[in-house]
Amino acid sequence: MQPIPFLDLKGQHQALRTEIDAAIAGVLERGQFILGPEVAAFEAEFARYTGAADGVAVASGTDALHLALRACDIGPGDEVITVAHTAGATVAAVVMAGARPVLVDIDPRSYTIDPEQVARHITPRTRAILPVHLYGQAVDLAPLLDLAHRHGLRVIEDCAQAHGAEYRGRRVGGWGDLGCFSFYPTKNLGALGDAGMVVTSDPALADRLRLLRQYGWRERDRAVLHGYNSRMDELQAAVLRVKLRHLDAWTARRRELAQRYRHLLGESGVALPDALPYGLHVYHLFVIRSPRRDALRQHLSEQGIGAMVHYPVPVHLQEAYRGLGLGPGALPISERSAGEILSLPLHPELADAAVERVAALVREFHTRTEG
Ligand SMILES: Cc1ncc(COP(=O)(O)O)c(C=O)c1O
Repeated sequence: MQPIPFLDLKGQHQALRTEIDAAIAGVLERGQFILGPEVAAFEAEFARYTGAADGVAVASGTDALHLALRACDIGPGDEVITVAHTAGATVAAVVMAGARPVLVDIDPRSYTIDPEQVARHITPRTRAILPVHLYGQAVDLAPLLDLAHRHGLRVIEDCAQAHGAEYRGRRVGGWGDLGCFSFYPTKNLGALGDAGMVVTSDPALADRLRLLRQYGWRERDRAVLHGYNSRMDELQAAVLRVKLRHLDAWTARRRELAQRYRHLLGESGVALPDALPYGLHVYHLFVIRSPRRDALRQHLSEQGIGAMVHYPVPVHLQEAYRGLGLGPGALPISERSAGEILSLPLHPELADAAVERVAALVREFHTRTEG
């Protein structure tokens, strides 16, 4: 039997080889590698895709979050409310800005931030809410936007896993003050290396982001604030422009494969992801739950199937974050999820037959272990 790897980035690029080669050749021909026409065009195209007025291309998703916080002047003494059930980068970015991450629990259906928990953790030091559209599903934003409005807080969306995901018919990224995207190679829209973007419809924030990403320069050698070097390469922008043209078709394929899994795993005893009615799920990950997760993962691995855990240790229980003072039991839903979740292979290049084989093995495992 052929192995079924969790991802197939090689396959995706083989299919686009001619288009990508031409895009790269164009950049080599022009000889401009930093902040040139490809970056400017990709900023405009991707911002339009999200529905925001402007986009500022940066070096990674982590930088997008960090610079978004800095653009809002959030730093030491400030608190930012976010989740522990996320990629560590979300919380690392808050720490990079010098602010204190206040980690709250999630809604067990969507795995995303629980608005009631947010409301309970607002203090006079709170400056922003940082919801994460995890696994490709939008956060229920309305209650968060309402809280932010009432308390004068910024909303910074972490959209690293949700390119094209919709909330109430509009794409994520343009709902909050700022939307932060990662184009890490495994994302639904991935570069050939690291890259990220912040989208916003606030011209003042876009202006600050452009300063922050390049040494604080408004013009060359004239810094007006303390900036960084966090620019997207022309080569990455050129490749991302090619891939953006395929994103909607890839999303449609992801959704089709997710439906296939749902159909095949319907009565299997594993818990399937909830696709909540307020949004359009883009299935960055297809995450099931099983109380015997580790044994199931092992069973799949023995059959050559790559399944992963996103994420095995909630951020508050990781060594670096002990200082936050949240021990085991502090965020029960996040902690329980971390022990049961399993991401099955799902990417646009995956064949229907592969989904059928994975689903059959999951079913077989559950029938056997239940009996
Ligand atoms: C939810 C989330 N936030 C932030 C990031 C950070 O993005 P990057 O790896 O591009 O720095 C990632 C991806 O790793 C992510 O999944």
